[in-house]
Amino acid sequence: MEKREQLYEGKAKKVYATDDSQMVIVSYKDDATAFNGQKKGTIAGKGVVNNRVSNFLMQMLTESGVPTHYIRELNDRETLVKKVEIIPLEVIIRNISAGSFAKRYGVDEGIVFAQPTIEFSYKNDDLGDPLINEYHAIALNLAGPNEIARITDMAFHINEVLKAYFATINVELVDFKLEFGRVMGDYIVLADEISPDTCRLWDAITHEKLDKDRFRRDMGGEVEAYNEIMYRIFGEKC
Ligand code: TMP
Repeated sequence: MEKREQLYEGKAKKVYATDDSQMVIVSYKDDATAFNGQKKGTIAGKGVVNNRVSNFLMQMLTESGVPTHYIRELNDRETLVKKVEIIPLEVIIRNISAGSFAKRYGVDEGIVFAQPTIEFSYKNDDLGDPLINEYHAIALNLAGPNEIARITDMAFHINEVLKAYFATINVELVDFKLEFGRVMGDYIVLADEISPDTCRLWDAITHEKLDKDRFRRDMGGEVEAYNEIMYRIFGEKC
């Protein structure tokens, strides 16, 4: 597989073309941003942790019947994935109140819901990723009704698989964000990443935060937190 020109640089990843028009290489950076890029920093080793953790979870999801963009890990920071057309929706599943949910509805963090919730944000930096409902997403032509239904089913299924896995490493899956893409303008796969950047992960006993909230909230200890997740999954630190 030959790596070719850079196609795109996002806040946390770069994307490169390859000699196969259906495949791209994703390269994970240590750069961290929050609040729509207003807060910037780096978390040493984050790119390695996110690449390896995301690939591990995507493979687990593939085995449970979820189609994903993952093809193969190339090295510590780079992965070969299917080229997709990203659907401009951030799909957020929550099991426990935290973050913008707690703020919006004026409730404490840490309330365990009777059943998981789903919400969508319109992925648009200029607008600050506003919340959007299914009907608005269809009206704006971001996705069709069948796609929204499929994405919703996939997201709740992914939640069950991830929640059960994280429980085995003594981590509570509080909430997370998913992105989906169309392969060759047709079927939908899970894309982007699943990592401590895109999930809230709390120690099951102490409720210590093991995710990007440590950076967002200036708590310190973010390198250690990312490494702790790596250690619990792989038995090694990066
Ligand atoms: P929120 O509580 O700030 O809405 O975040 C919900 C989840 O989505 C949390 O696990 C962090 C993740 N997330 C992202 O991955 N990217 C984002 O841009 C935002 C705002 C949240």
